[in-house]
Order: sequence, then structure tokens, then C-alpha cells
Amino acid sequence: MSHSEPNNKLFIETVGCQMNVLDSELVVAALRQDGYELTGNMKEADTILFNTCSVREHAEQKIYSQLGRLKYSKETRPNLVIGVMGCMAQKDQKLIFQRAPQVDMIVGTGQLAEIPELINESRKKRSRQMAISLSRRGGSRTEVADSFQSYDPLRDPTMRPSPHQAFVRIMIGCDKFCTYCVVPTTRGPEQSRSPSALARETQALAEQGVKEITLLGQTVNSYKHVEDGKEYRMADLLELLHKTEGIQRIKFVTNYPKDMTNDLLYAIRDLPKVAHYLHVPLQHGCDDVLKKMKRGYTVPEYRDMMHRIREIIPSCAVSSDFIVGFCGETEEAHQKTMEAVREFRFKNSFIFKYSERAGTKAADNYPDDIEDKVKKRRNNEMLDLQNAISAEDNADFIGRSVEVLVEGPSKSAVKAEQNRPTNASTNQLVGRSRCDRIVVFDGNPRLAGSIANVQIHDCTPTTLMGDIITRTIQHGSSDLLPILQG
Ligand code: SAH
Ligand code: SF4
Ligand code: F3S
Repeated sequence: MSHSEPNNKLFIETVGCQMNVLDSELVVAALRQDGYELTGNMKEADTILFNTCSVREHAEQKIYSQLGRLKYSKETRPNLVIGVMGCMAQKDQKLIFQRAPQVDMIVGTGQLAEIPELINESRKKRSRQMAISLSRRGGSRTEVADSFQSYDPLRDPTMRPSPHQAFVRIMIGCDKFCTYCVVPTTRGPEQSRSPSALARETQALAEQGVKEITLLGQTVNSYKHVEDGKEYRMADLLELLHKTEGIQRIKFVTNYPKDMTNDLLYAIRDLPKVAHYLHVPLQHGCDDVLKKMKRGYTVPEYRDMMHRIREIIPSCAVSSDFIVGFCGETEEAHQKTMEAVREFRFKNSFIFKYSERAGTKAADNYPDDIEDKVKKRRNNEMLDLQNAISAEDNADFIGRSVEVLVEGPSKSAVKAEQNRPTNASTNQLVGRSRCDRIVVFDGNPRLAGSIANVQIHDCTPTTLMGDIITRTIQHGSSDLLPILQG
């Protein structure tokens, strides 16, 4: 049968950070409006999209090998359109057509709105389509910034982490230019979105039943936007979005150490819906390495920030990212990072082996001279240390109760560890505490989207395990009325 009328089945694979998860949601929402249907089976799709990441080589290899699997797919499916969108599209541009000639369409991070049109063109004309932004040296700052368009109009609840959780992009791009990082190239200049648009978007999400929003930006606490003569910084934006009825929790990632002002810390302390959780990557524990990375702060300055956080919001959890094996990293420098992990006791750390990225300052100026096996060993040492710290700090929660925003049934097998019987109306549920710790407990799935009090009785380095506490209602007597269970 010839495909005179394509049935518009869409397969999309997403790698990379939360920005990409959000971008995929928006693109799927737009394509659904055009009559597309999602499929989880690449073989039955008419349109295949890869939403890509360039932050480390591994992420790119993964996509090229997926593309490789589609090398001969057009022979049996002449109507198929294969598209590469996102950071790798912006970074590699037409190189992707050379490396993977089966690709029909390349769309940068700033052209997502054009995707429906580009797919149609490509299918109709059987011609290659490419839409990307200017390179960062390809024009004035305004011209380059204008070529990166933030795209946030439509939402698709099925693409969210859970029905009660949604991402909200508050800024795009990055101007920090850490020497190892491609993001300023792939996402363009830093631009903050208008507070009134963000308030409307948050309101619309709340009306769809969203309880938790996570505000996204590469350096989210550098947020700055002037509207109606007022300058909004992160603290002001939190205050504004906090007013949204129905929203119960607000998180934001990723923070930049230098922009962690006391104003912002006071806002977190004073606004009850804001999570007591800050992801604010240190990246390295040695000042010489931080300088070479051009992070813009020293370890003592980071320490000062940590003291301010702990003084103003004592219950705040802090997490970090680290890069091991950066150019010229000595054993001594590595040990300084280990010391920093011991000192700062992060809730968790994401640890990455340095991956050289073409076009970055580090690739141009410093050889990638640490052997992979050394990177691996340092990575494992850090992981072991961080896990031990996380386990120890999680154990402090045993016997205490935490407020959990319930996400829904747990997919993990922690059940086995809990090893306790359940009745038919309860399931193992998962949620997060206000300090962003994962909490699992038995309860009715209808609790999803609500806040429950959970008494913690056990833990692992990544998870707290507990029992839901029946809420007590005061009647002037000591009546206990269980209202949350069952
Ligand atoms: N905007 C965020 C980070 C975005 S990239 C921030 O500044 O914190 C996510 C993480 O990937 C970074 O924090 C860093 O730890 C890591 N990363 C970035 N470039 C890398 C590279 N070339 N090799 C290995 N890890 C890298
Ligand atoms: Fe990359 Fe640095 Fe910008 Fe983060 S702040 S996105 S690490 S350049
Ligand atoms: Fe990757 Fe782009 Fe995010 S490079 S980490 S998907 S901003």
C-alpha cells in the first residue's frame, strides 16, 4: 500500500537534561495538534525525532548509533522522516547529514516552533531541511540572541515526569562560558522570560492539576527581567509564582554559586511552597582547577555561600555536579575535591568524567591528558565517598517525620527491602520531601498529588523508607481520626 496519506505516527527519543525533556513535551504537544499520534515503537513510526545532547561525547555517540540502526530504513519505509533536534543539531549542523545521510531534518534548540512545518516540507518535497540559530560569533549579541527563540506555548501532560509535576522554563541560554562546556554554544545567549508570561503559564499548569513546578535555567538564579519598570530577580519571581493557587511546591535548577544572593535565600526561607533544596554545582575542589574551568569563584567563596545557606535555611539540602579528570588534574587536586565532598556533605552529587568538546576554550587550550582509567578511578572514589555521606545523612531521618509531595506508585523494587505485607487498596508510593529526598511508603494511589506526612524507619543512600502517619484532628478531646489511609 502506498502512503498517500501518512498516518503520522511519531516516535521521539530524548537524551540530556530537563531542558530537553521540556522541549520534547512542547514539540509533541504541537505535533499532536497537527494530528500526530505518539508511538513507543520506532519500527511503526512515520516520523522519528531524536532530541539530542552534546554535553559529553557519550551522549552524542548514543544518538549516532541509534541513527546507524536506521541506515536502511528508507528502503522499506519511503515516507519516513528522520529528524535530529536539540543541542547536537545546533552544534554539528550539516555535519550530521554527512555522518548520517539518512537524516532528513536538523533543527536547533532555537527553532523548535518550526518543526511541524519542516517535517511537512521534508515529506512533501523529499528534501533535506535544516533550521539552526546563528553561531555565537555570527553576529551582534542581539542578532544571535534573536536567532534563539524560546518556545513554550503548548503543553502535553502525557510527556511530563508525572501528572502533577511540570517544568517551566524561566530562561534560555548561558553566558558563563565555563571552559569545558558546549552549552553556551548550543543554547545561545542568556535570556530571561517575562514574569507575567511565566505567571500565566504556571496558572495554566495549575489548572491542569499540576502541583509541583520546577523552574529551569542553566544558571537559574541569574534570572533577571525588567517588566513595567520593575526589575525581577529570582527572589521576586519566586514570590510572584508562589501566589499561584493549586501549586504546592516550587523547585528550581541549576544554580550558579556566584549568584546565590541572601535575598534569594530569604525568599526560600519565607515562602512555604519553595523546596528547601539547592542544586548548586561546585564542579571542583581545587582553586587552580576552578580557575582553569573559568567558574568565577574559589573554594573559600563557595564555602562562604554554603555557610550563608546553612545559616539562613538550616534544613536546606544542597547537591552538586563534579567533573573529574579535567585537563592537568593532579592527584593532589583530586584529593582536594574529595575533601570538599567531605566538608560540604552534599545530599547527592552527579560526577562526570571530563569529555573534551570541540570548540570550547578547554579543547583549544589544554590537552585532555588524564587517562581514562585514572578518570574512572577518581570517579569511583568520589561516588563511594558521596554514597557513604548520603547514607549517613539519610540515617539521621530515621525516627523523624517528613512532608512528602506524593508523585504516585513507585516503580522501583525497594519493596523487597521493605518486606512487609500490603492490603489490596495500598501500593508502594513514591514522593519527595521538601528537601528533595526520595521517600517510599505504602499508601492509596489516590494520594498522588497531595502532601502526606511520612514517618521514616529505614533508608538507603538514595531513598528514605517510611509509613504514612494518620493525621490527627483535634476535637477538644484526644480522638484520633485516620483520614489519609485507605
Ligand atoms: N548549567 C549547569 C550545568 C549544565 S551541564 C551548571 O552550570 O551547573 C551539566 C553538568 O555536566 C555540568 O554541571 C558539568 O558537571 C557537566 N559537564 C559539562 N560539560 C562537561 C564536559 N565537557 N565533560 C564532562 N562533564 C561536563
Ligand atoms: Fe555550562 Fe558553565 Fe553555563 Fe553551566 S554555567 S551551562 S557549566 S557554561
Ligand atoms: Fe545536553 Fe543541551 Fe542539556 S548539551 S545537558 S541537552 S542543554
